[in-house]
Amino acid sequence: MKLAVIGTGYVGLVSGVCFTLNGNHVICVDKDEEKINKLNRMESPIYEPGIEALIEVNLREGRLSFSSDLTDSVRRSDIIILAVGTPSLPNGEADLQYIEGAAAEVGRAMDGYKIIMTKSTVPVGTNEKIRKMIASQTTYPFDIVSAPEFLREGSAISDTLHPDRIVIGLDNPDLEPVMRKLHQGFTENVFVTDIRSAEMIKYASNAFLATKISFINEIANICEKVGADVTEVAQGMGMDRRIGSSFLQAGIGYGGSCFPKDTNALIQIAGNVDYEFKLLESVVEVNKGQRFMIISKLHESLGSLRGAVIGIWGLAFKPNTDDVREAPAREIVEALVAEGAIVKLFDPIAADNFRKQYDHPQLRWCSLPEEAAKDSDAVCLLTDWSLFRDIDLHKLAQSMRKQILIDGRNLYTKQQIEGTGLEYHSVGRPQMGGLSGYSQSVAGAV
Ligand code: UDX
Repeated sequence: MKLAVIGTGYVGLVSGVCFTLNGNHVICVDKDEEKINKLNRMESPIYEPGIEALIEVNLREGRLSFSSDLTDSVRRSDIIILAVGTPSLPNGEADLQYIEGAAAEVGRAMDGYKIIMTKSTVPVGTNEKIRKMIASQTTYPFDIVSAPEFLREGSAISDTLHPDRIVIGLDNPDLEPVMRKLHQGFTENVFVTDIRSAEMIKYASNAFLATKISFINEIANICEKVGADVTEVAQGMGMDRRIGSSFLQAGIGYGGSCFPKDTNALIQIAGNVDYEFKLLESVVEVNKGQRFMIISKLHESLGSLRGAVIGIWGLAFKPNTDDVREAPAREIVEALVAEGAIVKLFDPIAADNFRKQYDHPQLRWCSLPEEAAKDSDAVCLLTDWSLFRDIDLHKLAQSMRKQILIDGRNLYTKQQIEGTGLEYHSVGRPQMGGLSGYSQSVAGAV
């Protein structure tokens, strides 16, 4: 089939590239000519493992092309995929100006029957608006399909090629075989439903995952007070198949381009029909507070932070991405600066993006984790990049002014910390080393 994907952000580019792999011809369209030129030079505008190699091979073999000409691309295609951004408005609602604008342009460009498939995350009822918008611009027939995307940054290609399920919302049953063919080879689990339910599935799924994270973070906070270990608790809970083990990793909370935006949007969607989504409001509140446990733990160990030197490991909202959108690191670093600390920052790939958004004379930019730790009063791990796992913690402790490690992602095991001389704080697990906590209680027991 011939496809045009409108928007070359994460969702658009990854979907476009992946649809070439099961035999389709795809034109990825973007207004931003600079981006299109870059893509034609086989350079990806997003950091995503494996994407450049796929762009290169499919471009060379003629299954993939990039264009800034929406009209021409629409005319050459049978299926038009809308994958433009839906950022948050100040009140949390999704801003639909880009998707509505793209729909109008697609309508004007049409020269025959087309299937319009929405991949952008849009509030319930938006596909109906898209339908009206297109109908106001063309007399040609068309169908609308809602096909929400569930890919995660960092594993976007395998998530797209091997998803748990594909959700398709449609109102013309003739489209079902076309949609199954389009996704052929990805998974047999194609769930076909009505358009509004498909739109809701996306928000409900992200809200539920965010709820799991805030839930386990609150359990972690209680574990600290009662002397339990949240990683053990999560493992024990996850063995119940009704609960499941994923998204029960306690830490400093969720960030990124989806969870914060989609949870707020769902609260707004509910509010617009006079329903207060109290549970989700609490999930968002818990998440906003969780990052500041880093600051509380620093106070516990160091007292005032004025003049303290704090090393920060990890700025991206999660590993394997250079994305710093809604990353907890931002507010943590800002709070440290406000308290008068000198902050030494390291991230293997997200530092440039972070620096573009926030810089300050109290910040020191480091190109190695060891450099950020050297002569510091404490190191705080904010993103669980695997490279931190392999750091020699004995050497690390020796290079620091005070031997305090605050692990916001529970990356290290007890065995890795023991004997290093570090005072180790993590999330929802007993403290090790230092004047209180694990070592003291063990000492008391023997
Ligand atoms: C998410 C959804 O997983 C995906 O289906 C949707 O399409 C887009 O949003 P993404 O934002 O790329 O994907 O990242 P994800 O891996 O889901 O992590 C989101 C955030 O939750 C990260 O900040 C991560 O650190 C945090 N997280 C995740 C936890 O704190 N604990 C967990 O157990 C899992």
